[in-house]
Amino acid sequence: MTVSRRTVLATAAGAVATGASSTPAAAVDVGTTPAPTLRKLRAAADYAIEKLHAVAPSVTAFPVGTKFEKWVYSQNGDWVGGFWPGTLWMAWLYSKDEAFRTRALASAQKLAPRQYDTGTHDLGFLFYPSWVTAWRLTGDEAWRAGALRAADSLIQRYNPRGRFIRAWGTLNDEKNAGRVIIDTMMNLDLLAFASGRTGDPKYLDIAVEHAKTTRRVFPRPDGSTPHVYDFDPDSGTPVGPNTVQGYSPTSCWSRGQAWGLYGFTTMYRRTGNRDFLATARELADFAVGALTPDHVPVWDYRAPQQPHDIKDASAGAITACGLLDLAAATGRQVYREVALRLLTALSETCLTRNSARAEAVVARCTRHRPNEDGIEISLPYADYYLLEGILRVLRPQDVDRAIDLSSVTASRA
Ligand code: GLY
Repeated sequence: MTVSRRTVLATAAGAVATGASSTPAAAVDVGTTPAPTLRKLRAAADYAIEKLHAVAPSVTAFPVGTKFEKWVYSQNGDWVGGFWPGTLWMAWLYSKDEAFRTRALASAQKLAPRQYDTGTHDLGFLFYPSWVTAWRLTGDEAWRAGALRAADSLIQRYNPRGRFIRAWGTLNDEKNAGRVIIDTMMNLDLLAFASGRTGDPKYLDIAVEHAKTTRRVFPRPDGSTPHVYDFDPDSGTPVGPNTVQGYSPTSCWSRGQAWGLYGFTTMYRRTGNRDFLATARELADFAVGALTPDHVPVWDYRAPQQPHDIKDASAGAITACGLLDLAAATGRQVYREVALRLLTALSETCLTRNSARAEAVVARCTRHRPNEDGIEISLPYADYYLLEGILRVLRPQDVDRAIDLSSVTASRA
């Protein structure tokens, strides 16, 4: 690490209720947004609020994806349970409609049993946009305590021999014990949060070790990544790249690439480790170079029919958020320009505007192409990251209040 542990912990602690952060990345000036772009993004956010206002009263559990345009639900949240409360928090920040805040709290509360779940790596996805955000926006310590318990559950999955957090399977299940996936980069911020709140470095240390392992084995020389990398769980020895949701071990699943570039940017902000920044930029540069002119990512950048293959708008929304963060962290306007093009493309070509029946905001997402499961449907993380991305442009201070955009690196500039 290039900054002191004390600085990292102080910054990772974030700020409660007031949302005041020491050095919000959102404050880094990376240029203005053209007025026509702002108009389009405001129109998309207004549409999202309208749709959420109409649909939220009938949502009783956690949306996992749509079938015939209607949400299909999980009762326990699966891996996506953080996104519905997260979307409601974003909707509340944008609209100030108190009904969204009330629903966000009620929905987040339903995730309570999952804080003890040691059977998944997805605890950051589950607890950051829901419980960490609830704590940051309300100051209620119960949310903070639950998020810390989730972090305690997550670190049970750390394999010290291979220096990675295993992705899938219960702790006593040998199957998948050596399986690491690029998605896990998005679960590390929960650990940074836990170290910040407790003063105990063990959580962030594990996050840093996992990120170092990921950057050692996942990125190829051209900046693309596989979805999976396997290790021998007993010796910790690397076995090789693989895939589950991508086309092949040598392809590049676009949502995985998005998780990676966003996750490495966050880890750079939390630690100041410039290796993480370099990896974030490599992954970002590959994704930017692989975008089609319509700026809606194909589901895998090396799918057989690309650039004309099936789309995944969720990858576009996540990529946009990661690029906006990277632009703010580096001051590089080019990342912001691509992010704005992505958000504009999603707003103009992927929204459900013409369907009163649709319950989601964003269409044209793909969940799991190799399983032929959820091809060009709606997914809750597309709605969440579209709103996060638009608010990163329109209301960066509000996004900072919700998810903590502060950076240990900005203070060193
Ligand atoms: N983290 C699983 C997915 O992105 O589908």
